[in-house]
Amino acid sequence: MKVAVLGAAGGIGQPLSMILKNNLPAGSKLSLYDVAPFTPGVATDLSHIPTDVAVDGYTGDDLTKALEGANVVVIPAGVARKPGMTRDDLFNINASIIANLVRNCAKTCPKACICIITNPVNSTVPLAAEVLKAEGVYDKHRLFGVSALDVLRSETFLAQELGISEKRILVPVIGGHSGTTIIPLLSKVIGSEKISSKRISELTTRIQNAGTEVVEAKAGAGSATLSMATAGARFALKVVAGLMGEPGVNEYCYVEGGSKHAQYFAQNVIFGKTGWKKVCDYGKVSSFEKKLIEEAIPELQKNIDKGVSFAKDWLSKN
Ligand SMILES: NC(=O)c1ccc[n+]([C@@H]2O[C@H](COP(=O)([O-])OP(=O)(O)OC[C@H]3O[C@@H](n4cnc5c(N)ncnc54)[C@H](O)[C@@H]3O)[C@@H](O)[C@H]2O)c1
Repeated sequence: MKVAVLGAAGGIGQPLSMILKNNLPAGSKLSLYDVAPFTPGVATDLSHIPTDVAVDGYTGDDLTKALEGANVVVIPAGVARKPGMTRDDLFNINASIIANLVRNCAKTCPKACICIITNPVNSTVPLAAEVLKAEGVYDKHRLFGVSALDVLRSETFLAQELGISEKRILVPVIGGHSGTTIIPLLSKVIGSEKISSKRISELTTRIQNAGTEVVEAKAGAGSATLSMATAGARFALKVVAGLMGEPGVNEYCYVEGGSKHAQYFAQNVIFGKTGWKKVCDYGKVSSFEKKLIEEAIPELQKNIDKGVSFAKDWLSKN
């Protein structure tokens, strides 16, 4: 199994690569790429960790080498938010980066599962799909927006509220990965019925704004990196497990298809040997959550349209 990380020298990329080096199945290859020239040095550093995972580092013109034979590509390349910025403010810079990197994936490893971390995920995923379609290699089962950090945050905050171990909780988070499009289904967790509706509303707002909480706490030095690396690695390892034939592996992520609400939607998918193979229905929700879903759709649709229209424009010029 070969996993390539694009943007591997960044705040997310480095710890994400470290977790993968420590947890990928024995015999795997880890390939790091970043425009930062010290990226081969990051690979050298990781290569001293005694696990049976080979690491290579590439920069500059060596993107093709980094991608050759990749089964999974994880992309945290781009710029992160500063205080006062929304994920949408990042759009113009990150959109071009994603379009370029995804086109290279299409040419070099067209069958790879591509996991996009780069924000705004609500737009970068539809954009990537358009680029893959233009290259004639798009398969919706192999393109993912990584929204798993919303799940991790929900698990942590709800476990704290209920006074139980984070390890015993799994919170579904559907919709998208930005502000009000992040919809945690707290009602699905046993014990949440004991929490007042006022607290449920406060917890929901905290989950939706948790990224901003980190951006403000870091005061200009970036956005979530360590928690995101943990979420990204958890996600990539599940994709790998699915590709290797492990049954019943699932996670929430932003994919095309399977939702009555929007073309792209964050939902629970089951992984298989060729990407995600099934979307699981989220079932019954509370009236509060139903309202959240209804209110999120217009914003999500706007984000999707923005990604698609950027791609069309970019493809006409590149
Ligand atoms: N999906 C999520 O839940 C989530 C959470 C946090 C952050 N993010 C996003 O992840 C992205 C990265 O965040 P970060 O904190 O690691 O930022 P960072 O600035 O620390 O790292 C980004 C890295 O990308 C590299 N890069 C830039 N252009 C590149 C290109 N064309 N090819 C390869 N590498 C390139 C940079 O050199 C840098 O090393 C941002 O867009 C951020 O908003 C997503």
